[in-house]
Amino acid sequence: MTTQPMTINDITANAGILPLIFKDNKIYIIDQSILPYEEHYYEVNSLEQLISSIKTLKIRGAPAIGLAAAVGMYLAITEYTSQSIDNGFIEYLNKAKIKLNESRPTAVNLSFISEKMNNFILAQIKMGYDFRKILDLGLDKIKQIYNTNILINKKISYVGESIIKSGYKIMTHCNAGPLATGGWGTALGVIRAAHFNNKNIEVFVNETRPLNQGARLTTYELFKDKIKATLSLDSASGYLIKQQKINLIIIGADRIAINGDTANKIGSYNLAILAKYHNIPFYVASPFSTIDISITNGHQIPIEYRHTDEIIYCHKSKIAFDRVTIINPSFDVTPNELITGIITEYGIIYPPYNSQILQKYQLSLEDKIYAY
Ligand code: MRU
Repeated sequence: MTTQPMTINDITANAGILPLIFKDNKIYIIDQSILPYEEHYYEVNSLEQLISSIKTLKIRGAPAIGLAAAVGMYLAITEYTSQSIDNGFIEYLNKAKIKLNESRPTAVNLSFISEKMNNFILAQIKMGYDFRKILDLGLDKIKQIYNTNILINKKISYVGESIIKSGYKIMTHCNAGPLATGGWGTALGVIRAAHFNNKNIEVFVNETRPLNQGARLTTYELFKDKIKATLSLDSASGYLIKQQKINLIIIGADRIAINGDTANKIGSYNLAILAKYHNIPFYVASPFSTIDISITNGHQIPIEYRHTDEIIYCHKSKIAFDRVTIINPSFDVTPNELITGIITEYGIIYPPYNSQILQKYQLSLEDKIYAY
Protein backbone atom coordinates (compact mmCIF):
# COMPACT_ATOMS: atom_id res chain seq x y z
CA MET A 1 0.00 0.00 0.00
CA THR A 2 1.36 3.43 -0.96
CA THR A 3 1.73 6.12 1.68
CA GLN A 4 2.90 8.73 -0.81
CA PRO A 5 0.59 11.71 -1.39
CA MET A 6 -1.07 11.53 -4.79
CA THR A 7 0.42 13.70 -7.50
CA ILE A 8 -1.57 15.57 -10.14
CA ASN A 9 -0.59 12.85 -12.61
CA ASP A 10 -2.09 10.09 -10.44
CA ILE A 11 -5.28 12.03 -10.03
CA THR A 12 -5.66 13.02 -13.65
CA ALA A 13 -4.96 9.51 -14.94
CA ASN A 14 -7.97 8.40 -16.98
CA ALA A 15 -9.76 11.65 -16.06
CA GLY A 16 -10.50 12.40 -19.72
CA ILE A 17 -9.89 15.67 -21.57
CA LEU A 18 -9.20 18.35 -18.98
CA PRO A 19 -10.77 21.78 -19.44
CA LEU A 20 -7.99 23.43 -17.50
CA ILE A 21 -4.37 22.50 -16.94
CA PHE A 22 -1.37 23.82 -14.99
CA LYS A 23 2.11 23.94 -16.50
CA ASP A 24 5.10 25.71 -14.94
CA ASN A 25 2.77 27.72 -12.72
CA LYS A 26 0.82 28.94 -15.73
CA ILE A 27 -2.85 28.19 -16.28
CA TYR A 28 -4.25 27.01 -19.61
CA ILE A 29 -7.85 26.53 -20.74
CA ILE A 30 -8.96 24.39 -23.66
CA ASP A 31 -11.25 26.39 -25.93
CA GLN A 32 -14.44 24.32 -25.80
CA SER A 33 -16.16 26.59 -28.30
CA ILE A 34 -14.03 25.15 -31.12
CA LEU A 35 -13.95 21.54 -29.95
CA PRO A 36 -13.90 18.90 -31.38
CA TYR A 37 -12.44 20.45 -34.51
CA GLU A 38 -9.42 21.96 -32.75
CA GLU A 39 -7.88 20.99 -29.41
CA HIS A 40 -6.38 24.33 -28.49
CA TYR A 41 -5.19 25.24 -24.97
CA TYR A 42 -4.49 28.93 -24.40
CA GLU A 43 -2.90 30.65 -21.43
CA VAL A 44 -5.28 32.63 -19.24
CA ASN A 45 -3.56 35.42 -17.36
CA SER A 46 -6.09 38.11 -16.49
CA LEU A 47 -9.41 38.20 -14.66
CA GLU A 48 -11.04 39.98 -17.63
CA GLN A 49 -9.87 37.27 -20.03
CA LEU A 50 -11.06 34.57 -17.65
CA ILE A 51 -14.51 36.15 -17.33
CA SER A 52 -14.76 36.49 -21.09
CA SER A 53 -13.80 32.79 -21.42
CA ILE A 54 -16.67 31.87 -19.10
CA LYS A 55 -19.19 34.11 -20.88
CA THR A 56 -18.28 32.79 -24.32
CA LEU A 57 -18.35 29.17 -23.10
CA LYS A 58 -14.71 28.51 -23.84
CA ILE A 59 -14.83 27.04 -20.38
CA ARG A 60 -18.28 25.76 -19.46
CA GLY A 61 -20.21 23.19 -17.44
CA ALA A 62 -21.06 23.90 -13.83
CA PRO A 63 -18.14 22.23 -11.98
CA ALA A 64 -15.61 23.47 -14.57
CA ILE A 65 -16.75 27.06 -14.21
CA GLY A 66 -16.44 26.56 -10.45
CA LEU A 67 -12.77 25.78 -11.06
CA ALA A 68 -12.56 28.82 -13.32
CA ALA A 69 -13.86 30.91 -10.41
CA ALA A 70 -10.95 29.72 -8.26
CA VAL A 71 -8.56 30.66 -11.04
CA GLY A 72 -10.32 34.04 -11.39
CA MET A 73 -9.81 34.87 -7.73
CA TYR A 74 -6.15 33.93 -8.02
CA LEU A 75 -5.70 36.06 -11.15
CA ALA A 76 -7.37 38.95 -9.35
CA ILE A 77 -4.63 38.81 -6.70
CA THR A 78 -1.92 38.79 -9.38
CA GLU A 79 -3.42 41.97 -10.86
CA TYR A 80 -3.67 43.98 -7.65
CA THR A 81 -1.58 47.01 -8.53
CA SER A 82 -0.10 47.94 -5.16
CA GLN A 83 1.08 44.32 -4.69
CA SER A 84 0.61 44.69 -0.96
CA ILE A 85 -2.06 43.94 1.61
CA ASP A 86 -3.35 47.48 1.98
CA ASN A 87 -6.77 48.86 2.96
CA GLY A 88 -8.32 48.42 -0.47
CA PHE A 89 -7.38 44.77 -0.93
CA ILE A 90 -10.37 43.12 0.74
CA GLU A 91 -12.84 45.38 -1.08
CA TYR A 92 -11.01 44.68 -4.35
CA LEU A 93 -11.30 40.91 -3.80
CA ASN A 94 -14.98 41.25 -3.03
CA LYS A 95 -15.56 43.12 -6.30
CA ALA A 96 -13.68 40.42 -8.23
CA LYS A 97 -15.85 37.78 -6.58
CA ILE A 98 -19.07 39.58 -7.54
CA LYS A 99 -17.90 40.01 -11.13
CA LEU A 100 -17.09 36.32 -11.36
CA ASN A 101 -20.41 35.26 -9.86
CA GLU A 102 -22.28 37.41 -12.37
CA SER A 103 -20.52 35.95 -15.40
CA ARG A 104 -23.01 33.05 -15.58
CA PRO A 105 -25.98 33.14 -13.23
CA THR A 106 -27.42 29.60 -13.11
CA ALA A 107 -24.51 27.39 -12.04
CA VAL A 108 -24.06 27.75 -8.29
CA ASN A 109 -20.55 26.30 -8.47
CA LEU A 110 -19.18 29.73 -9.41
CA SER A 111 -20.24 31.43 -6.21
CA PHE A 112 -19.53 28.32 -4.11
CA ILE A 113 -15.88 28.28 -5.14
CA SER A 114 -15.31 32.05 -5.39
CA GLU A 115 -16.57 32.31 -1.80
CA LYS A 116 -14.31 29.47 -0.65
CA MET A 117 -11.32 31.09 -2.37
CA ASN A 118 -12.15 34.50 -0.94
CA ASN A 119 -12.44 33.06 2.58
CA PHE A 120 -9.13 31.31 2.11
CA ILE A 121 -7.38 34.55 1.16
CA LEU A 122 -8.98 36.41 4.09
CA ALA A 123 -7.73 33.69 6.44
CA GLN A 124 -4.19 34.11 5.10
CA ILE A 125 -4.40 37.86 5.63
CA LYS A 126 -5.46 37.23 9.24
CA MET A 127 -2.44 34.97 9.67
CA GLY A 128 -0.32 38.00 8.80
CA TYR A 129 1.13 36.67 5.57
CA ASP A 130 2.50 39.16 3.07
CA PHE A 131 1.28 39.65 -0.50
CA ARG A 132 3.90 37.41 -2.12
CA LYS A 133 3.19 34.54 0.28
CA ILE A 134 -0.58 34.84 -0.29
CA LEU A 135 -0.01 34.73 -4.02
CA ASP A 136 2.02 31.50 -3.71
CA LEU A 137 -0.51 29.95 -1.36
CA GLY A 138 -3.31 31.02 -3.72
CA LEU A 139 -1.76 29.03 -6.55
CA ASP A 140 -1.40 25.97 -4.29
CA LYS A 141 -5.00 26.40 -3.24
CA ILE A 142 -6.41 26.36 -6.77
CA LYS A 143 -4.40 23.22 -7.50
CA GLN A 144 -5.85 21.62 -4.36
CA ILE A 145 -9.40 22.59 -5.38
CA TYR A 146 -8.70 21.15 -8.82
CA ASN A 147 -7.50 17.80 -7.47
CA THR A 148 -10.30 17.54 -4.94
CA ASN A 149 -12.82 18.22 -7.67
CA ILE A 150 -11.55 15.32 -9.74
CA LEU A 151 -11.65 13.00 -6.73
CA ILE A 152 -15.25 14.03 -6.02
CA ASN A 153 -16.24 13.35 -9.63
CA LYS A 154 -14.61 9.96 -9.47
CA LYS A 155 -16.54 9.15 -6.29
CA ILE A 156 -19.82 10.23 -7.91
CA SER A 157 -19.04 8.09 -10.94
CA TYR A 158 -18.41 4.90 -9.00
CA VAL A 159 -21.31 5.52 -6.61
CA GLY A 160 -23.63 6.03 -9.57
CA GLU A 161 -22.33 3.17 -11.63
CA SER A 162 -24.47 0.79 -9.56
CA ILE A 163 -27.65 2.04 -11.27
CA ILE A 164 -26.44 0.80 -14.64
CA LYS A 165 -26.98 -2.82 -15.63
CA SER A 166 -25.05 -4.63 -18.30
CA GLY A 167 -26.34 -3.93 -21.80
CA TYR A 168 -28.21 -0.75 -20.80
CA LYS A 169 -29.11 1.87 -23.37
CA ILE A 170 -28.65 5.25 -21.72
CA MET A 171 -29.72 8.69 -22.91
CA THR A 172 -27.92 11.88 -21.86
CA HIS A 173 -28.27 15.56 -22.61
CA CYS A 174 -25.75 18.38 -23.01
CA ASN A 175 -22.29 17.56 -21.70
CA ALA A 176 -21.53 16.42 -18.19
CA GLY A 177 -18.24 14.76 -19.01
CA PRO A 178 -14.63 15.60 -18.11
CA LEU A 179 -14.73 18.88 -20.05
CA ALA A 180 -17.76 20.16 -18.15
CA THR A 181 -16.63 19.01 -14.76
CA GLY A 182 -12.89 19.54 -14.55
CA GLY A 183 -12.11 15.87 -15.12
CA TRP A 184 -13.79 12.47 -14.96
CA GLY A 185 -17.31 13.74 -15.42
CA THR A 186 -20.49 13.47 -13.38
CA ALA A 187 -23.39 12.14 -15.47
CA LEU A 188 -20.91 11.05 -18.12
CA GLY A 189 -18.55 9.94 -15.34
CA VAL A 190 -21.20 7.44 -14.21
CA ILE A 191 -21.44 6.21 -17.80
CA ARG A 192 -17.64 6.02 -18.10
CA ALA A 193 -17.39 4.05 -14.85
CA ALA A 194 -19.99 1.55 -16.13
CA HIS A 195 -17.98 1.21 -19.33
CA PHE A 196 -14.71 0.71 -17.44
CA ASN A 197 -16.52 -2.04 -15.51
CA ASN A 198 -17.26 -3.75 -18.84
CA LYS A 199 -21.01 -3.25 -18.73
CA ASN A 200 -21.38 -3.16 -22.50
CA ILE A 201 -23.50 -0.04 -22.55
CA GLU A 202 -24.72 2.16 -25.40
CA VAL A 203 -25.23 5.90 -25.09
CA PHE A 204 -27.76 8.03 -26.94
CA VAL A 205 -26.65 11.65 -27.05
CA ASN A 206 -28.98 14.58 -27.69
CA GLU A 207 -27.31 17.23 -29.83
CA THR A 208 -28.33 19.97 -27.34
CA ARG A 209 -29.20 22.97 -29.46
CA PRO A 210 -28.26 25.75 -29.83
CA LEU A 211 -24.57 25.31 -28.93
CA ASN A 212 -24.48 21.57 -29.49
CA GLN A 213 -22.56 20.53 -26.41
CA GLY A 214 -23.95 17.01 -26.89
CA ALA A 215 -23.10 16.83 -30.58
CA ARG A 216 -19.62 18.36 -30.24
CA LEU A 217 -18.36 17.45 -26.79
CA THR A 218 -20.18 14.44 -25.34
CA THR A 219 -19.83 12.46 -28.56
CA TYR A 220 -16.14 13.38 -28.69
CA GLU A 221 -15.53 12.28 -25.13
CA LEU A 222 -17.42 9.01 -25.62
CA PHE A 223 -15.47 8.37 -28.81
CA LYS A 224 -12.16 8.88 -26.99
CA ASP A 225 -13.21 6.26 -24.42
CA LYS A 226 -14.44 3.91 -27.16
CA ILE A 227 -17.95 3.91 -25.69
CA LYS A 228 -20.68 3.04 -28.18
CA ALA A 229 -22.53 6.28 -28.89
CA THR A 230 -25.32 7.46 -31.17
CA LEU A 231 -26.07 11.13 -31.77
CA SER A 232 -29.55 12.38 -32.59
CA LEU A 233 -31.67 15.51 -32.73
CA ASP A 234 -33.11 16.80 -29.47
CA SER A 235 -36.54 16.49 -31.00
CA ALA A 236 -35.96 12.78 -31.71
CA SER A 237 -35.61 11.89 -28.03
CA GLY A 238 -39.25 10.85 -27.49
CA TYR A 239 -39.27 8.63 -30.54
CA LEU A 240 -35.91 7.10 -29.66
CA ILE A 241 -36.79 6.40 -26.03
CA LYS A 242 -39.67 4.32 -27.34
CA GLN A 243 -38.12 2.83 -30.45
CA GLN A 244 -34.71 2.03 -28.93
CA LYS A 245 -36.12 0.95 -25.58
CA ILE A 246 -33.88 3.33 -23.63
CA ASN A 247 -33.37 1.97 -20.09
CA LEU A 248 -32.36 5.13 -18.27
CA ILE A 249 -31.71 8.87 -18.65
CA ILE A 250 -28.94 10.62 -16.76
CA ILE A 251 -27.99 14.30 -16.77
CA GLY A 252 -25.76 16.71 -14.82
CA ALA A 253 -26.92 19.78 -12.89
CA ASP A 254 -26.15 23.46 -12.60
CA ARG A 255 -28.06 24.11 -9.41
CA ILE A 256 -30.27 21.98 -7.19
CA ALA A 257 -32.68 23.33 -4.58
CA ILE A 258 -33.16 21.69 -1.16
CA ASN A 259 -36.37 20.06 -2.41
CA GLY A 260 -34.46 18.42 -5.29
CA ASP A 261 -35.72 20.68 -8.10
CA THR A 262 -32.85 20.70 -10.59
CA ALA A 263 -31.67 23.29 -13.12
CA ASN A 264 -29.79 21.90 -16.08
CA LYS A 265 -29.40 22.60 -19.79
CA ILE A 266 -32.59 23.57 -21.60
CA GLY A 267 -34.38 20.43 -22.71
CA SER A 268 -33.67 18.46 -19.54
CA TYR A 269 -37.20 19.06 -18.27
CA ASN A 270 -38.65 17.71 -21.54
CA LEU A 271 -36.61 14.54 -21.08
CA ALA A 272 -37.78 14.11 -17.49
CA ILE A 273 -41.40 14.26 -18.64
CA LEU A 274 -40.65 11.72 -21.36
CA ALA A 275 -38.98 9.46 -18.79
CA LYS A 276 -42.06 9.63 -16.57
CA TYR A 277 -44.39 8.82 -19.46
CA HIS A 278 -42.25 5.90 -20.58
CA ASN A 279 -41.71 4.72 -17.01
CA ILE A 280 -37.92 4.77 -17.10
CA PRO A 281 -35.61 6.17 -14.39
CA PHE A 282 -34.38 9.76 -14.67
CA TYR A 283 -31.21 10.43 -12.66
CA VAL A 284 -29.21 13.58 -11.93
CA ALA A 285 -25.50 13.27 -11.10
CA SER A 286 -23.64 16.15 -9.48
CA PRO A 287 -21.25 17.10 -6.70
CA PHE A 288 -23.03 17.86 -3.45
CA SER A 289 -21.81 21.45 -3.75
CA THR A 290 -24.22 21.92 -6.69
CA ILE A 291 -27.01 21.78 -4.13
CA ASP A 292 -27.77 25.35 -3.15
CA ILE A 293 -28.70 25.06 0.48
CA SER A 294 -29.97 28.66 0.50
CA ILE A 295 -32.95 27.92 -1.75
CA THR A 296 -35.95 25.78 -0.95
CA ASN A 297 -37.29 25.20 -4.47
CA GLY A 298 -36.54 25.57 -8.16
CA HIS A 299 -38.52 28.81 -8.61
CA GLN A 300 -35.67 30.56 -6.85
CA ILE A 301 -33.03 29.41 -9.33
CA PRO A 302 -31.90 32.24 -11.65
CA ILE A 303 -32.19 31.14 -15.25
CA GLU A 304 -29.67 32.45 -17.75
CA TYR A 305 -31.13 33.81 -20.98
CA ARG A 306 -28.51 33.94 -23.70
CA HIS A 307 -28.20 36.00 -26.86
CA THR A 308 -30.79 35.28 -29.55
CA ASP A 309 -27.98 35.07 -32.14
CA GLU A 310 -27.35 31.56 -30.82
CA ILE A 311 -30.72 30.61 -32.33
CA ILE A 312 -30.58 32.82 -35.42
CA TYR A 313 -27.12 31.74 -36.60
CA CYS A 314 -25.31 28.48 -37.04
CA HIS A 315 -21.62 28.90 -37.91
CA LYS A 316 -22.32 32.47 -39.07
CA SER A 317 -25.09 31.33 -41.45
CA LYS A 318 -28.57 32.59 -40.75
CA ILE A 319 -30.88 29.66 -40.07
CA ALA A 320 -33.95 31.44 -38.69
CA PHE A 321 -36.39 34.14 -39.63
CA ASP A 322 -35.25 36.87 -37.27
CA ARG A 323 -38.09 39.37 -37.37
CA VAL A 324 -40.13 37.62 -34.74
CA THR A 325 -39.61 37.55 -31.01
CA ILE A 326 -36.93 35.03 -30.16
CA ILE A 327 -36.28 33.73 -26.67
CA ASN A 328 -33.26 31.74 -25.60
CA PRO A 329 -33.42 30.35 -22.06
CA SER A 330 -30.27 28.33 -21.54
CA PHE A 331 -31.52 26.23 -18.63
CA ASP A 332 -34.76 24.78 -17.32
CA VAL A 333 -35.81 23.39 -13.97
CA THR A 334 -36.92 19.78 -13.58
CA PRO A 335 -39.29 19.42 -10.64
CA ASN A 336 -38.20 16.93 -7.98
CA GLU A 337 -41.14 14.60 -8.54
CA LEU A 338 -39.73 13.72 -11.97
CA ILE A 339 -36.29 12.81 -10.60
CA THR A 340 -35.62 9.21 -9.58
CA GLY A 341 -32.46 10.01 -7.64
CA ILE A 342 -29.59 12.47 -7.28
CA ILE A 343 -26.17 10.84 -7.41
CA THR A 344 -23.58 12.62 -5.25
CA GLU A 345 -20.26 11.78 -3.65
CA TYR A 346 -22.25 10.99 -0.47
CA GLY A 347 -24.33 8.34 -2.18
CA ILE A 348 -27.54 8.40 -4.17
CA ILE A 349 -30.16 10.66 -2.66
CA TYR A 350 -33.72 9.42 -3.12
CA PRO A 351 -36.99 11.19 -2.27
CA PRO A 352 -38.05 12.71 0.04
CA TYR A 353 -35.26 15.08 -0.98
CA ASN A 354 -35.66 17.78 1.68
CA SER A 355 -34.78 15.61 4.65
CA GLN A 356 -32.19 13.53 2.80
CA ILE A 357 -30.40 16.60 1.46
CA LEU A 358 -30.32 18.34 4.83
CA GLN A 359 -28.94 15.19 6.43
CA LYS A 360 -26.15 14.94 3.84
CA TYR A 361 -25.48 18.66 4.21
CA GLN A 362 -24.50 18.06 7.86
CA LEU A 363 -22.15 15.36 6.61
CA SER A 364 -20.61 17.73 4.07
CA LEU A 365 -19.92 20.32 6.78
CA GLU A 366 -17.85 17.79 8.68
CA ASP A 367 -16.18 16.35 5.60
CA LYS A 368 -12.57 17.39 5.16
CA ILE A 369 -12.96 17.06 1.39
CA TYR A 370 -14.82 20.39 1.40
CA ALA A 371 -12.38 22.06 3.76
CA TYR A 372 -10.79 24.05 0.95
O1 MRU B 1 -24.19 26.13 -20.95
P1 MRU B 1 -23.29 25.04 -20.48
O2 MRU B 1 -22.61 24.31 -21.58
O3 MRU B 1 -22.35 25.51 -19.41
O4 MRU B 1 -24.29 24.03 -19.79
C1 MRU B 1 -23.79 22.90 -19.18
C2 MRU B 1 -24.84 22.00 -18.68
O5 MRU B 1 -26.00 22.27 -18.73
C3 MRU B 1 -24.37 20.78 -18.00
O6 MRU B 1 -25.24 19.72 -18.21
C4 MRU B 1 -24.30 21.12 -16.51
O7 MRU B 1 -23.43 22.18 -16.29
C5 MRU B 1 -23.89 19.98 -15.72
S1 MRU B 1 -22.18 19.66 -15.99
C6 MRU B 1 -21.80 18.42 -15.07
